[in-house]
Amino acid sequence: MSILKQIQQLRTEINEHNYHYYVLDNPKITDSEYDLLMRELQTLEANYPESITSDSPTQRVGAEPLSAFAEIIHTIPMLSLGNAFDNTEVYDFAERATERLQTKEISYIAEPKLDGLAISLRYEAGLLVTGATRGNGHQGENVTQNVKTIKNIPLCLRGQYPEILEVRGEVVMPKAGFAKLNQQQVAKCEKIFANPRNAAAGSLRQLDSNVTATRPLTFYSYAIGAVSEANLPKTHSGILHQLQEWGLPVAQQNQVVQDVKGCLQYYQTILAQRATLPFEIDGVVYKINDIEQQEILGYISKAPRWAIAHKFPAQEALTQLLAIEIQVGRTGAITPVAKLAPVNVGGVTVSHATLHNQDEIRRKDVRINDTVIVRRAGDVIPEVVRVLLEKRPTDSQPFVLPNKCPVCDSAVVRIAEEAVARCTGGLFCPAQRQQALQHYVSRQAMDIDGLGKKLVVQLVENNLVNNPADIYDLSHEQWAGLERMGDKSADNVMASIDKSKATTLARFLYALGIREVGESTANILAEQFTSLEQLELASEHELQQITDIGPVVAKHIANFFQQPHNIEIIQRLQAIGVHWSTKDSITQILTEPTLAGKTFVLTGTLLQMNRNEAKSSLQKLGAKVSGSISKNTDYLVAGEKSGSKLEKAKNLGVAILEEAEFIELLGK
Ligand code: IVH
Repeated sequence: MSILKQIQQLRTEINEHNYHYYVLDNPKITDSEYDLLMRELQTLEANYPESITSDSPTQRVGAEPLSAFAEIIHTIPMLSLGNAFDNTEVYDFAERATERLQTKEISYIAEPKLDGLAISLRYEAGLLVTGATRGNGHQGENVTQNVKTIKNIPLCLRGQYPEILEVRGEVVMPKAGFAKLNQQQVAKCEKIFANPRNAAAGSLRQLDSNVTATRPLTFYSYAIGAVSEANLPKTHSGILHQLQEWGLPVAQQNQVVQDVKGCLQYYQTILAQRATLPFEIDGVVYKINDIEQQEILGYISKAPRWAIAHKFPAQEALTQLLAIEIQVGRTGAITPVAKLAPVNVGGVTVSHATLHNQDEIRRKDVRINDTVIVRRAGDVIPEVVRVLLEKRPTDSQPFVLPNKCPVCDSAVVRIAEEAVARCTGGLFCPAQRQQALQHYVSRQAMDIDGLGKKLVVQLVENNLVNNPADIYDLSHEQWAGLERMGDKSADNVMASIDKSKATTLARFLYALGIREVGESTANILAEQFTSLEQLELASEHELQQITDIGPVVAKHIANFFQQPHNIEIIQRLQAIGVHWSTKDSITQILTEPTLAGKTFVLTGTLLQMNRNEAKSSLQKLGAKVSGSISKNTDYLVAGEKSGSKLEKAKNLGVAILEEAEFIELLGK
């Protein structure tokens, strides 16, 4: 047998053993036999280095440390999940689904909600080519070198796999490995990790993959992203099974259950097993098993309508409330925050908890020096649950929020229908100014590298910057004159400011800090309006026609663009050179027919694309996609099993397109 063939055979053999060990949890040989095979391969490869390929089982470590992670755009966004905190919320979720699907019985797949960090793995021709963190869902970090060090992630797929396959799942640090890692950290006098999730995230985001390789990380798949295979199983459980066949690890606790009753039984079972599971979980996830039903349900904003996370009860602890501090937010919102005697709540040290607003303080009657119960649930900011009245000092006084802003002394007012009080200082208030600027320069917004919080604070304190446009006017001397800055750092900041001028419309809209316009809304606006000028002119009514934009958001957007000083700042920014590509508007002009101004409604099941793809294709051509039929609807796209919307469209005389006609219209 030729050496190359021998090497190839050894690799196949080792990969099979990996599969039995890591995926099937059923090893066929002992660890020392496995080590012998690995050593044999290493020796052969050392003698024939030209035979080494990137997918060889020996190639998990050894990459050069990086100076930064490159960015990766997810071809299909990585979504998050809605949460249910009690049984009623699960029933509500299921009821919404049964109503929309017009069916009573639903099969779900119930899965543990793994407490780690989400990643996407991309395989091309069966080889692992990239691993990316979730990031903001649209864009993550390229952590391929690190992902390759995770032993249960296959470097190459098994069997008959599609040309392109993206696998989504969670990287976790098992409890045992976490405990051991912290012991080692103590021994090395290095910082210990608060919980397995932080440890997993910290380990995966190491610039040196050799460090990641020493960390006990494990991966479990729970979904697929882009895939070049039309003939996938028609259920989520089938897809998970298929992933396992391709060599990917899947949590063994996943189970198909019937209806809410089955979901809730699963919840109890897993809750009872929680302490003995090898990894941390913070709840369970229910997903509607039938893919066709998933497609009918679609998505709202960033989360699917066909899945929900049922969170385990939050963890609580007792502590002392030392003071109530007042925070002023970016939009002037005044938030009272409890300063607490630090206390460990489920593995995390908590020293602050939100008190939300005046009504909450009054309702819970929270006072300084009270003994309180604090709670934290997953990622949510810790909160004060209640006060132990029997421990209250006799001289305590009810707490009332100040009526003057503690930062700028402007009046604090509360609009009738809002729960929060706001400082009326606007950009005159240094707290608001600072946060507006921080938001503007942040990674998801204008992404000005090297302009962090400390610098922004100095800019505001020294009155160098009043609004985002002022940042671009600062001279080299002004930058270099700031604390802990010098010529070199000034050059760097100025270079990143210059670089950030080339941006996208979505980022720019998000950066403006319009109330209620987060990343997802900014993306929608940028897709709907091909130019900023068009958006500036849109009326509240027009904005409301856009799916996912409700009346409140529409009002904030319209208000924002009606303020002359906002327009002035935008014009200044554009004059300074902030710009974005208008690629979309060019494609719109070039692709006939253009659908600008036309309103579409989608109903029923489309066979050749899912709802989201249909929607985004329409939006790219300038059309609006609405959720309900009215006389303003131009077209109803009727897929299979169209129900009441089809009837209504017929009654109103709205043009109806079948799927084939629709695809033709899109020019696909
Ligand atoms: S599915 C389209 N399944 O929870 C839905 N997510 O809160 C995509 N997570 O970002 C997620 N276990 O990091 C899904 N069995 C599971 C999960 C799971 C943990 C995480 C994941 C996601 C977050 C959403």
